[in-house]
Amino acid sequence: MIYFNYFFRSLFLLSLLHASGQCQQKEQVRLPQLGTNSIRDVIAAMTLQEKAEIVIGAGHNNTPSAFSDGSMIGRTDFRIPGAAGATNAVPRLGIPAVVMVDGPAGVRINPRRKGESKTYFATAFPVGTTLASTWNPAIVESVGKAFGNEVAEYGADIILAPGVNIQRNPLGGRNFEYYSEDPLVTGKIAAAMIRGLQSNGIGTSIKHFVANNQETNRSTINEIITERALREIYLKGFRIAIDEAKPWAVMSSYNLVNGVHTSEREDLLSTVLRDEWHYKGMVMTDWGGSATNLDDQMNAGNDLIMAGSARQIAKIVSMVKHDSLDVKVLDRNVERVLQMVLKSPTFLNRPYSNNPDFKLHAEISRNAAAEGMVLLKNTKNTLPLAKPVKQVCLLGNISYNLIPGGMGSGEVNKAYTISLAQGLTAAGYLLHEPLKERYQRYATNWRNVWREMTVSDQEILMAAAQSEIAILTIGRNSGETKDRSLDTNYVLKPTEKDLIERAAIAFHQKGKKLIVVLNICGAIDTKGWRDLPDAILLAWQPGQEGGYAIADILSGKINPSGKLATTFAENYTDVSSARNFPGTATENQKQVIYKEDIYIGYRYFDSFKIKPAYEFGYGLSYTTFSIAPLKLSSTIFKDAITVTTKVTNTGKTAGKQVVQIYITAPNKLINKPVQELKAFAKTKLLQPGETEMLTFRITTNDLASFYNDKNAWIADQGRYLIKAATSSKQIRQSAMVMLPKPVITEQVHQVLRPTLPVNAFKPAID
Ligand code: BGC
Repeated sequence: MIYFNYFFRSLFLLSLLHASGQCQQKEQVRLPQLGTNSIRDVIAAMTLQEKAEIVIGAGHNNTPSAFSDGSMIGRTDFRIPGAAGATNAVPRLGIPAVVMVDGPAGVRINPRRKGESKTYFATAFPVGTTLASTWNPAIVESVGKAFGNEVAEYGADIILAPGVNIQRNPLGGRNFEYYSEDPLVTGKIAAAMIRGLQSNGIGTSIKHFVANNQETNRSTINEIITERALREIYLKGFRIAIDEAKPWAVMSSYNLVNGVHTSEREDLLSTVLRDEWHYKGMVMTDWGGSATNLDDQMNAGNDLIMAGSARQIAKIVSMVKHDSLDVKVLDRNVERVLQMVLKSPTFLNRPYSNNPDFKLHAEISRNAAAEGMVLLKNTKNTLPLAKPVKQVCLLGNISYNLIPGGMGSGEVNKAYTISLAQGLTAAGYLLHEPLKERYQRYATNWRNVWREMTVSDQEILMAAAQSEIAILTIGRNSGETKDRSLDTNYVLKPTEKDLIERAAIAFHQKGKKLIVVLNICGAIDTKGWRDLPDAILLAWQPGQEGGYAIADILSGKINPSGKLATTFAENYTDVSSARNFPGTATENQKQVIYKEDIYIGYRYFDSFKIKPAYEFGYGLSYTTFSIAPLKLSSTIFKDAITVTTKVTNTGKTAGKQVVQIYITAPNKLINKPVQELKAFAKTKLLQPGETEMLTFRITTNDLASFYNDKNAWIADQGRYLIKAATSSKQIRQSAMVMLPKPVITEQVHQVLRPTLPVNAFKPAID
């Protein structure tokens, strides 16, 4: 009996065990999976810890942080060495980790991996400023497409680009990553870049939202800005890019705006971004931009904290447990992150080759670089170089050591960089040997990069006798965390000026010419030396193919068609933000007041009648163009008009021209810039005698200004002068249009108000 009892009990227990095993299996099977079940069901199945892991990134730059329970394997996935960051995975719910890489001018990952002989270099494309100077969204889109292909082929999900902050001051250390002083150029170029990048099925994170316009005290600087300047200038480029190209993510910035960190501003990240602009993607912080209040960031709609740490995960868990963070807010942010994960190549299991087509991308990089170069000066047709030139005297360290791009997270690990010396040689020019040899020897010592090699008078005289022309390169670089110095970076060094002077004298004495090439990260001082050379080519930072691209322009293989997207001031003190950059710093407060308000760049130079060295929109060509009188669809404005003009190449060389539409608005009620860029278009390559018709659509939105006191964008009643120009100063045609009644084009919320009076300076109303 006892035996039977024991037997039946065991049998009973065994069957129970079997049943509970099945139950467990069934439960596992029943667990919702991302992609199969709705995101809401997946979230409902998540533990609080898992939710916290989704809104906090997986750690910094290849050093994922351990979780509180010590586990790490299987949760973080930095499968791409050198990637900037990743999200955390929750494998039991089918949520993989997505990987994010920098940066705006090419993929930034480690080129070498432990134990592998294969390399993982990436193409260094021209930097943002160079691309904007093309004024050609189509070519920028082609760069985005090639660049995004490398992101995809290396197996990454999100590229942390483009950078679309406004170049408020020429000393901004990251200006090279950004596009322009003007929000329209910024927005249109950014939209093209995003379209190109995302056409590869990867996501972009447009950055740094908003007003990350300086590197000095970048994480603690409190920027006092009027709502009007924010809306008309600093937010506008983001808005255009988001409207037109729908980036998957937005990265908030490090700085504070009007007293609060941008990542903690609900009015910015929810009211403006989502309610007013209808943005549907997610928001992430900048890396380590989370030193502040996690609950405020979560509430504001900053969905993901990067790079992320175990401490932050624990904090989220504790905040929910102690009711200082509503779980509904957490769920909302988790949902937005998961929506991004759902679209990612990793989630979709897209295969990748680790073998992008570098040859094709190099070609694209070279063409875009040439298209972004701006011919600043060309007296007596110095350029293109006459053929044949037997020997070129190539001066300046940077002629032998090109600067392809800037420093920091925007840097690219490229396989090579083509110097100007290499570019000219490949184009068939002979270089003056003795100097070339000395420079090349000098350049092998990296310590010498920023110290101009001394060239004696005798050497220059000899080179002037033996060569037909001199080309001298001036270089400048800058990068993240540091603004440029006025004395040593913006202004030319005495040794550089001296070299330009001596080369000009020696070559001019022999009836020969001097060309200066500027391989620079941002606008520089040109006063006091720009009269000396016969030609000046602004090559910006042109990416790895730079030497070839500069040679393409110098030789005339490509006719320059770049235009300045940023003003070159005559004096640094003429820059409208000069007196308020980079702000003041006391022990407890670091602050900068944007007193120039909406008067940035040409808006200031033109309205306050200050003559720049080279104006916004400026750039020469090897040919000439005529711009035909404007035709308007109507001279009375209803909702929109179309403006057409014809551009004809009237010279002897094929070339492209940019037509810029500036509008002067009535300014009786509030101050307005004397003119603002409202549209632009670039022609195709026009053969001599060829004509192209360009059409522009102008809407009432384009006529409107932001009224702080009315929380509204209003197009004032009155006459608007529409100008077709080839720079902000070279107005070629114009026509008047009448808006019979004022139009409130958009009523918005009152947000982002300054906590201090800005006391903006204003021009007198005419
Ligand atoms: C930069 C971002 C960058 C991030 C990741 C930050 O320091 O400001 O632009 O994407 O690092 O590397």
